[in-house]
Amino acid sequence: MSDSYPFSSRTKHFVQPKQWASMRVAKEQEKKTGQRIIHFEKGDYQGPDFETPQHVLDATEKALRDGYVRYDPGPGLDELRKAIADRMARRGRPTVPEEVLVTAGAKHALTMNLLTFLQDGDEVIFPNPGYPPDEVWAKYTGAVIKHTPLTKPDWQFDVEALEKLITPKTKLLIINTPQRPNGDLVNNPEEIAEMLKRYPHVMVITDEIFSEVTFDKPHKSISAVEHLRDRVIVIDTFSKTWAMTGWRIGWTVAPKPVIEKLSIFLQDSITNVAAFIQKAAFTAMTGDQGWVENKLSLLKSKRDRMVAGLNTIDGIKCASPDGAFYAFADISGTGLTSQEFTDRLVERANVAVVAGTAFGSQGEGYVRITYACSDEDIDEGIKRMKEVDLS
Ligand SMILES: Cc1ncc(COP(=O)(O)O)c(C=O)c1O
Repeated sequence: MSDSYPFSSRTKHFVQPKQWASMRVAKEQEKKTGQRIIHFEKGDYQGPDFETPQHVLDATEKALRDGYVRYDPGPGLDELRKAIADRMARRGRPTVPEEVLVTAGAKHALTMNLLTFLQDGDEVIFPNPGYPPDEVWAKYTGAVIKHTPLTKPDWQFDVEALEKLITPKTKLLIINTPQRPNGDLVNNPEEIAEMLKRYPHVMVITDEIFSEVTFDKPHKSISAVEHLRDRVIVIDTFSKTWAMTGWRIGWTVAPKPVIEKLSIFLQDSITNVAAFIQKAAFTAMTGDQGWVENKLSLLKSKRDRMVAGLNTIDGIKCASPDGAFYAFADISGTGLTSQEFTDRLVERANVAVVAGTAFGSQGEGYVRITYACSDEDIDEGIKRMKEVDLS
């Protein structure tokens, strides 16, 4: 039926999001069999450990009552832009509110940036593995996608190999740190910045949505490198630091002319991010941060629990990720491909994970496992993984 509609040829590559394939399968299986699935596949917080703090709920309710329920076209509420600018300055990127755009999540910010910068024939470099939705929009524009393989097992940019991919047509380099799907920080932003001095035509989009979910080492932003500041665009969100995934609010920080252009895109597409949500986000960012600190130490203990558990399973090896809430386990010892492992695990053990290949060819031999869930689920999932025969 869908073939009979005159869709734009630019949408030819649209398929259901690959990173959510496991979630769709798990949901379907749960409906069909009625059996409980352990959801290690979700890129989200789950369960009572991560409920929205009361003061954020109270601020939302007050904002609704105070009338923040109308159109409010523009780049975002002044107070929120100022709070974000102050936070970015603490990250090492001096920022004024005019360099901030409040968006409907990081994904929205990424989409607007990619559609605003790229056009037919431009080249864009993504890490492999990386974050698939970015590529959907790059393809939509007609840009040519190149991948720079991250080194294994530490998942770092090989700057020499990256440099070889740069041509006069390269417009954008995409970095994400802490990285999806492996949770590791990019250790060498300064080295990447130094190399980029030789290519002043290349802009950088740095997706830092887990910037404040790191455990052992501090996050470093390439936007803090002064000589690069006028060509770096930062993406961040309330989804991960404040566990506000469903509230759909994030931001982008960039030089003023970029923000002015993106603000037009935003106003002409969604008008504005709901003002009462912006008020809630302001409270989350500027109010009591005890909840965030507590969440971080909870996540760290869950990471350790998950990684230790995974390393007791035959055929699986798992390094301890620097941040985010995913473990990226090496399952090559099982002799299965990532997809075979993923399919059999959900079918035979009711445990859902994501095949590493959903994030790029370099994800072969790995699966992504989320540990932002209850300790009981971690233990039960590990138990099922240990007991199941996947051969
Ligand atoms: C790398 C990356 N960027 C962006 C997003 C989307 O974030 P948001 O919820 O703010 O849209 C995600 C979601 O997990 C992600 O992994």
